[in-house]
Amino acid sequence: MHDQASRLRELASKGKDKDKSKMRVIAVTSGKGGVGKTNFTVNLALALSEFGRRIIILDGDLGLANVDIAFGLSARYTIEHLLSGEKTIEQILLTGPRGIGIIPGGSGVQGLANIERDKLANVIANLGRLEKMADLLIIDTGAGLGHTVLNFLKAADDIIMVTTPEPTALTDAYGLLKTLREEAGEVPIHVVINRVRNEKDAQATFKRLEMAVHKFLDGSIKFMGWIYDDPLVGRSVMQLEPLGISFPDSPAYKCIQWIAGTVSGIYLRPPRQAGGVRGFLSKLLRSF
Ligand SMILES: Nc1ncnc2c1ncn2[C@@H]1O[C@H](COP(=O)(O)OP(=O)(O)OP(=O)(O)O)[C@@H](O)[C@H]1O
Ligand SMILES: [Mg+2]
Repeated sequence: MHDQASRLRELASKGKDKDKSKMRVIAVTSGKGGVGKTNFTVNLALALSEFGRRIIILDGDLGLANVDIAFGLSARYTIEHLLSGEKTIEQILLTGPRGIGIIPGGSGVQGLANIERDKLANVIANLGRLEKMADLLIIDTGAGLGHTVLNFLKAADDIIMVTTPEPTALTDAYGLLKTLREEAGEVPIHVVINRVRNEKDAQATFKRLEMAVHKFLDGSIKFMGWIYDDPLVGRSVMQLEPLGISFPDSPAYKCIQWIAGTVSGIYLRPPRQAGGVRGFLSKLLRSF
């Protein structure tokens, strides 16, 4: 086990010093399901691309693949084909609007987080090539805290946690924060409150969460912004087109554009040590 881990790390960090521009990794997650992660991820990618950022999304949902559908695309191959060595990263990568890359995860995501030794060099070589294609890798994780999701969160440069003001969503958000504080202490956690009626609603919701964090947990959370509850989100989902394309002037997309400005600013900061895809993989593998 130890032997494998050190070999993996060695492979993962290979060539690290040569990379000047490192790709940053953001994981989007939530305690409760259905709070709007996929909608947020897809439109954040669109809004970031308006800022000139090159984005790749990894659809990390273990259940139904959502990201490709949200873009009106349909994946032929997934990470599973990469792990089995049948396909290269270029062959599984889908291209969405504005050049956004999408890596369909499918059940291969579990495989990626629990990778076998003999497959590793190949996967690292493939994922390493992403670094030249994008500035940011955004992972849309599934809801809840499986082993796989937790590993992704621990390895990311930043975590964006989405919640709604609903009491059940907040309870689950708090539960997730508790685990993250124990397991992923160093990774900054940014909170996005989705489906709010107004700014007051958003501020009050964040306060509630922050108070619980201050009272019961170490560390802090950062308020990244809010998104209005907006019927145009549902309309865009039905049209199989991201909100930022169907309704770029909608209140919800305007909020996401505003959040993208913040994300863009964060990524002007130098990355934490061992950034980039290799840094991410090496941290991912350190969990074993
Ligand atoms: N700001 C919003 N206003 C109105 N409806 C929204 C908003 N955000 C998301 N929704 C609706 O909520 C539903 C769930 O959104 P989404 O699929 O993005 O959630 P999710 O967190 O990715 O779910 P899962 O946990 O199943 O992956 C969608 O049908 C979408 O229409
Ligand atoms: Mg989703």
